[in-house]
Amino acid sequence: MAWLLVVAVLAGLAADRCAATDHIVGANHGWNPNINYSLWSGNQTFYVGDLISFRYQKGTHNVFEVNQTGYDNCTMDGVAGNWTSGKDFIPLPEARRYYFICGNGFCLQGMKVAITVHPLPHNASADGKRRGSTGEDEDSAAAVHALSAAWMVALAVAVAAVAF
Ligand SMILES: *[C@@H]1O[C@H](CO)[C@@H](O)[C@H](O)[C@H]1NC(C)=O
Ligand SMILES: *[C@@H]1O[C@H](CO)[C@@H](O)[C@H](O)[C@H]1NC(C)=O
Ligand SMILES: *[C@@H]1O[C@H](CO)[C@@H](O)[C@H](O)[C@H]1NC(C)=O
Ligand SMILES: *[C@@H]1O[C@H](CO)[C@@H](O)[C@H](O)[C@H]1NC(C)=O
Ligand SMILES: *[C@@H]1O[C@H](CO)[C@@H](O)[C@H](O)[C@H]1NC(C)=O
Ligand SMILES: *[C@@H]1O[C@H](CO)[C@@H](O)[C@H](O)[C@H]1NC(C)=O
Repeated sequence: MAWLLVVAVLAGLAADRCAATDHIVGANHGWNPNINYSLWSGNQTFYVGDLISFRYQKGTHNVFEVNQTGYDNCTMDGVAGNWTSGKDFIPLPEARRYYFICGNGFCLQGMKVAITVHPLPHNASADGKRRGSTGEDEDSAAAVHALSAAWMVALAVAVAAVAF
């Protein structure tokens, strides 16, 4: 029974590599005053399709997307959205800089975060279109993926066999 669990976990890890990441601002410190969010964002790599999420006490804080002027000066310049639920999941659909601040004055106490969202490292559909004759690279890439997944399962079985 136990080895089934090992296989399931490893297969899950293999599948997860393709999933979007939810970047929780401030990790376990959440969205609060007097935290250096530059240190947090510097440790994250954001890709198109990821989410950034803000956790805070509803009513006390909130989240506004602004532009760089708004971010630098803690103003509503270039405001593009606001969130107030206390557990806000914000999609990041474009490769660009995003700027978020707290709109209740707490921006001046450090509640601001700027991030850079990168294009996906490999955009298979765009590559296919550009080359016209689609296929070979994507097919071989898919084959490699299938192969590595198979390897992980085989490895898991081997590990389980040794362990139990
Ligand atoms: C956050 O930390 C960085 C790196 O140590 C530093 O350059 C920056 O001034 C800090 N920001 C604030 C608001 O303290
Ligand atoms: C950044 O990541 C490194 C390596 O994982 C870790 O040691 C460090 O504490 C992290 N810094 C912050 C501010 O989360
Ligand atoms: C911040 O505000 C000051 C004064 O209002 C302005 O001169 C400056 O350009 C602003 N910052 C940015 C990045 O625009
Ligand atoms: C931000 O938006 C304000 C108001 O629309 C605009 O005046 C300013 O130039 C913008 N700043 C940037 C850096 O785009
Ligand atoms: C917040 O967003 C809502 C729509 O989601 C909009 O109607 C409202 O005007 C916004 N508030 C501010 C202060 O920008
Ligand atoms: C991939 O490229 C296609 C075609 O250029 C584009 O429409 C699509 O938005 C891109 N996808 C991502 C996630 O960047």
